[in-house]
Amino acid sequence: MKYETLHNLSIPKIGFGCWTIGGEGVANPADDERSLTALRSAVELGYRHFDTAEYYAAGHSEELLGQVLCESGKPREAFFVTSKVSPEHLAYDDVLRSCAASLRRLGLETLDLYLIHWPVRGMNLPETFRALNQLVREGRVRALGVSNFNLKLLKEAQSLSETPLLTNQAPYSIPDRSYVENGVLAYCQANDILLTAYSPVKSRFFRGKKLADFAREKGSTPFQIGLAWLVRQPRVIAIPTSFNPQHQADNLSAQNLELSQADMDYLNSLV
Ligand SMILES: NC(=O)c1ccc[n+]([C@@H]2O[C@H](COP(=O)([O-])OP(=O)(O)OC[C@H]3O[C@@H](n4cnc5c(N)ncnc54)[C@H](OP(=O)(O)O)[C@@H]3O)[C@@H](O)[C@H]2O)c1
Repeated sequence: MKYETLHNLSIPKIGFGCWTIGGEGVANPADDERSLTALRSAVELGYRHFDTAEYYAAGHSEELLGQVLCESGKPREAFFVTSKVSPEHLAYDDVLRSCAASLRRLGLETLDLYLIHWPVRGMNLPETFRALNQLVREGRVRALGVSNFNLKLLKEAQSLSETPLLTNQAPYSIPDRSYVENGVLAYCQANDILLTAYSPVKSRFFRGKKLADFAREKGSTPFQIGLAWLVRQPRVIAIPTSFNPQHQADNLSAQNLELSQADMDYLNSLV
């Protein structure tokens, strides 16, 4: 397993995203067996970093993840678990309540990482961070981060966090360089903040012929190339989602794919 190590934490470069585990905006218990099977196979294959949120399936994603982590019999320290507070819960009391509810649903005493899921107009970040900092001081959360924050908001969050911000989770993939263009990636790399790439392979781009030809030459799939391209970059980690065990295995093993600088330049030139 490849890791990013910073601020006394080691975070697997490839994690497992839990969006659609348990449902989408609402819980869909009818699909539980499929979700549980996907999570069990991810743990079995060696995924150790799981990304969920109170928003995912209205908390049911956290419940199913908690169930599978518990039944794995592995020690708590074996896993790195991220959850997120929703934008409508950014007031001081609401953050504390949301975190307590996420921990309860996950069956955990501590979250490894807790993120503001996305920013909203009119949010009171000092108030939110007053609660987030308290959660760290109380040992309910090991590290704080944000998601979908532009550079200005990221700097503001950084100034309010009593501990180093661990990540900004953002869309990033070969065809989506918006967080390169807005200066966030370079800022993260210069300031020891991870950029956690979400939706790393969710694009029609990964079904294109040029990428397919390149992947074939490397003995891999276009999706693996997309993930290898991400995790080759310093301070970049990725959290693909898949319900398909073969895809899950492919995605995890993408971290072992070697790409040269010439390969990176070629892939950059494809979009
Ligand atoms: N912070 C945020 O606002 C935010 C927003 C979006 C997502 N996220 C996080 O990021 C995670 C991943 O993002 P995402 O679900 O949007 O996109 P993604 O992981 O890039 O794409 C998922 C899709 O790609 C397919 N896929 C994955 N690996 C594949 C492979 N090796 N071969 C072929 N198909 C493959 C999956 O289908 P199969 O199931 O058939 O493999 C699924 O349809 C989410 O689960 C969530 O944790 C965060």
